[in-house]
Amino acid sequence: MKLRLKYLFIFLFLFPLLASAQNLITNTFNRNTISLNGTWHYIVDPYEVGYYDYRSKPYDEDSPNSINAFFNDYHPKNKSELIEYNFDESATLKVPGDWNSQKEKLFYYEGSIWLKRSFDYKPSQKNDRLFVYFGAVNYRADVYLNGKKLGVHEGGFTPFNFEITSIVKPENNFLIVRVNDRRLIDAVPTVNTDWFNYGGITRDVKLIELPQTFIQDYTIQLDKNDPNTISGFVKLNNASSSQKVTISIPELKIEKEFEADSDGYAKINFKAKNINYWSPESPKLYQVFISTPFEKLKDDIGFRTIKVVGQNILLNGKSIYLRGISLHEENAMRGARAFSDADALVSLTWAKELGCNYIRMAHYPHNEHMIRMADKMGMMIWEEIPVYWTIDFTNKATLKNAENQLTEMITRDKNRACVIIWSMANETPISDSRNSFIIDLVNQTRKTDSTRLVSAALQLHSDESKPGVKIVDDPLGNYFDIVAFNQYTGWYGGSLEDAPDSKWQIAFKKPVIISEFGGGAVQGMHGTKDERWTEEYQDYLYQQNLKMLEKIPGIRGMSPWILADFRSPRRQLPNIQDGYNRKGLISNNGIKKKAFFTLQSFYKKMAESFK
Ligand code: GCU
Repeated sequence: MKLRLKYLFIFLFLFPLLASAQNLITNTFNRNTISLNGTWHYIVDPYEVGYYDYRSKPYDEDSPNSINAFFNDYHPKNKSELIEYNFDESATLKVPGDWNSQKEKLFYYEGSIWLKRSFDYKPSQKNDRLFVYFGAVNYRADVYLNGKKLGVHEGGFTPFNFEITSIVKPENNFLIVRVNDRRLIDAVPTVNTDWFNYGGITRDVKLIELPQTFIQDYTIQLDKNDPNTISGFVKLNNASSSQKVTISIPELKIEKEFEADSDGYAKINFKAKNINYWSPESPKLYQVFISTPFEKLKDDIGFRTIKVVGQNILLNGKSIYLRGISLHEENAMRGARAFSDADALVSLTWAKELGCNYIRMAHYPHNEHMIRMADKMGMMIWEEIPVYWTIDFTNKATLKNAENQLTEMITRDKNRACVIIWSMANETPISDSRNSFIIDLVNQTRKTDSTRLVSAALQLHSDESKPGVKIVDDPLGNYFDIVAFNQYTGWYGGSLEDAPDSKWQIAFKKPVIISEFGGGAVQGMHGTKDERWTEEYQDYLYQQNLKMLEKIPGIRGMSPWILADFRSPRRQLPNIQDGYNRKGLISNNGIKKKAFFTLQSFYKKMAESFK
């Protein structure tokens, strides 16, 4: 009996944990959804009392008498009963939103917070299946519905979902999420970053209603080698026998029928003429409909090719220059995690004003509102997973975690024309274990999506036998389509006077992108160009770096560090940083610094020469 019970436990509790990562639902923006955004009650739990008893034994989730009352949203049955918490009388947080910027007492809090949302549910279609979907939770989420554990997700910047069809009730459902944002050596990212560790349910939460057999995932993109062919696949969930799948693009007068096999998989491939190709100058998105006998799903998809030929990056066969800027996912004025269309519009409008056609989304996948708006506004995107600095490259579980975040990022955004580069990492120290870790990620990326370019932000070094020569020869350069590296001449060393005369030794005949350069300035602080932290110093740094960088053979773009000042606990210089990294071209009050205009005129010139 006991043994059978154990297997029942495994099936009931462990299976959802394992199933969630592979069953990510794409294009939730165009599904039947019910938002669970809004006011959630929360209980801060720095000693993990909701998870462990006083002997630090985890509550045993399959024995009803000891199942932790937290999950059950328990209320005392009589006046004598001891219960030491009450969700409904606890304080509230706005979801989506980090807790740090919402509550003064939680500003630097790192640990567990339990959040709870109650909801009623009346199915809009009989027999529908129901999923709960999270845009992202930083960093680990343990999710419970009506006292049942749905599963766990690790990774603070990618979406996940759980099926709740058999657990949801018509009234008084209570969804509880234990969010733990403690930084860990073996996590991705690790303990050491230069950005603020915003904790919480930081992106949208929604219920998704779907038919018994539904369109779970698909790729519909221009064939990498033939601009007149659209190819990819459609994956149905719970397809018992083969099903018809129709792809239609009314504006291109296309309607094609395919057959999904009994696993629900349908390969698609069809000719398409007179496509108005997506580009920053003309960000054309087509209404694409994917239909089965059970549903008709719309998406807005742009079609373009992106490839490298020699040292050129070709968009739709034409050599381009990436006039970029780096960006963290932060609303500068709110000093908080960005998560909405309104937040995305602020950053994209500033980038357009700067003259950008490209943004490096540092150092993790940004929210889907941003990516979909960049698609609409015509901004090419570099997307990155947070394999940042000193990750535990020898740890198999860490690699699995990075692979999972990579899969979730690509699954979510692979139909967005604006995404042209998948980045594997940022400034990781060279070692054999780091090389094999990242080569594994490169191979997985190319297998999952062969249509986009692959890169990572590397670093340069010098060699005393070659004074004044900047060397880029990181072995990973052999595995990337584009050689990208960060360099901080004039900020972390190196003379600005001599910068334009620098010599370069780049070991790869590939397009070169400067993924970061820059320096700090306090907006409104003025002085001479030699006075660090003045706007004049930062502006002179930009002038000299631009003169130096445009001489690099094969340079095809840059994404200076960074669009706006952003919070970082590493930056505590009083009256200068005050908890902010000041390398922004725009202050956290939204005011442009002198260097903004220097870069803007450089990009105006580049736009002319790459017409
Ligand atoms: C590094 C790193 C950034 C960091 C920046 C800086 O290159 O990639 O994440 O913020 O330099 O030092 O400001």
